[in-house]
Amino acid sequence: MPQDSAAKSQFALSTSPEDEKNKASSPHRRMISQSALPPQGLSTCAARMQFCASSWWSQVELGPPDAILGITDAYKKDTNPKKINLGVGAYRDDAGKPYVLPSVIKAEEKLLAKNQDKEYGPIHGIAEFTVPAAKLAFGEDSDVIKNGLNVSAQAISGTGALRIGTLFLKSFFPGSKDVWLPTPSWGNHTPILKHSGLGVKQYRYYDPQTCGFDFKGCMDDIARIQSFCCTHVHITQTGVDPKKEEWKELSKIMKDRKLFPYFDMAYQGFASGDTDKDAWALRHFVQEGHKVLVAQSFAKNMGLYGERVGMITATCESKEEAERVMSQIKILIRPLYSNPPIHGARIAGMVLSDPELRPQWEVEVKEWLTELSP
Ligand SMILES: Cc1ncc(COP(=O)(O)O)c(C=O)c1O
Repeated sequence: MPQDSAAKSQFALSTSPEDEKNKASSPHRRMISQSALPPQGLSTCAARMQFCASSWWSQVELGPPDAILGITDAYKKDTNPKKINLGVGAYRDDAGKPYVLPSVIKAEEKLLAKNQDKEYGPIHGIAEFTVPAAKLAFGEDSDVIKNGLNVSAQAISGTGALRIGTLFLKSFFPGSKDVWLPTPSWGNHTPILKHSGLGVKQYRYYDPQTCGFDFKGCMDDIARIQSFCCTHVHITQTGVDPKKEEWKELSKIMKDRKLFPYFDMAYQGFASGDTDKDAWALRHFVQEGHKVLVAQSFAKNMGLYGERVGMITATCESKEEAERVMSQIKILIRPLYSNPPIHGARIAGMVLSDPELRPQWEVEVKEWLTELSP
């Protein structure tokens, strides 16, 4: 269709008799019609024609595909029967199909039997998930939890949790707005930080020569970070984690240098096969007096990828401080997605707190790790 005719037909959308009828009867149709009108001020016929002949989005450049999820798109298009998706780190069965953990299936069955409603959850998520999820990270006997010093808000999986945490840092961190990431880091860390308005710097972490942790390089770099910076520490991204003694040194130097630790726990259980052991570093930092931010994901360790189950926790000095921090986290969440989805969180909460399912899940995580280990 020539551009002029296309423009005319767009005008027709807002002025046809049928449309006039719809305007009166349907608010939805009325919205569509009005969005096709040129902005006010373009009142002459020529200006209206010119406006409609071009697109609102003609200046938008084609962006690159996501480095990791783009591989999944390419995988789906590929017709080679021997194809393997090396992009997203999601567990597959021997036939290459997604796999749902038996403990998760049972939890869903139990939930279905409860016949629950689908009411909105609170802005910070449902307690049946946030309470056991916090205990998974900080420990069943955690003093922080017992004393109500953790501000734990359900989030849209690990990515959403990281994003809420970084928005909170941007708004309220009293020190530098640069966050130090280990090298290499998960590909989405830098965009998450930058989109939240924070700067990104890097410290050494992985040594390609030894395929191990570059403890000396890491300590040397951290010793040069100015005080009141935030450093991102995460567990099992490269498959290479510091040993306990090294974590102790890291905790000490970060405390001495007044650096703020932001933990990303996207794989709890996948480092050692034991969820408590994998939380050792976080619990050690807390015991040593660090205040922390922790982003948790249940995508990998429960296989709840698409359910988007996660949580952000900030630890505080007092209950009164915790109340203030929670109020601001809710203010950050509300205009983003109002409140988080409940279904996946109910599943995770059930798996974590049900006396039959919790031990079953712990065994399944261990078995998973054994299978994944070379
Ligand atoms: C290190 C790390 N953090 C966080 C995430 C967040 O994952 P999700 O948003 O799927 O929970 C991932 C996912 O691959 C990851 O590797």
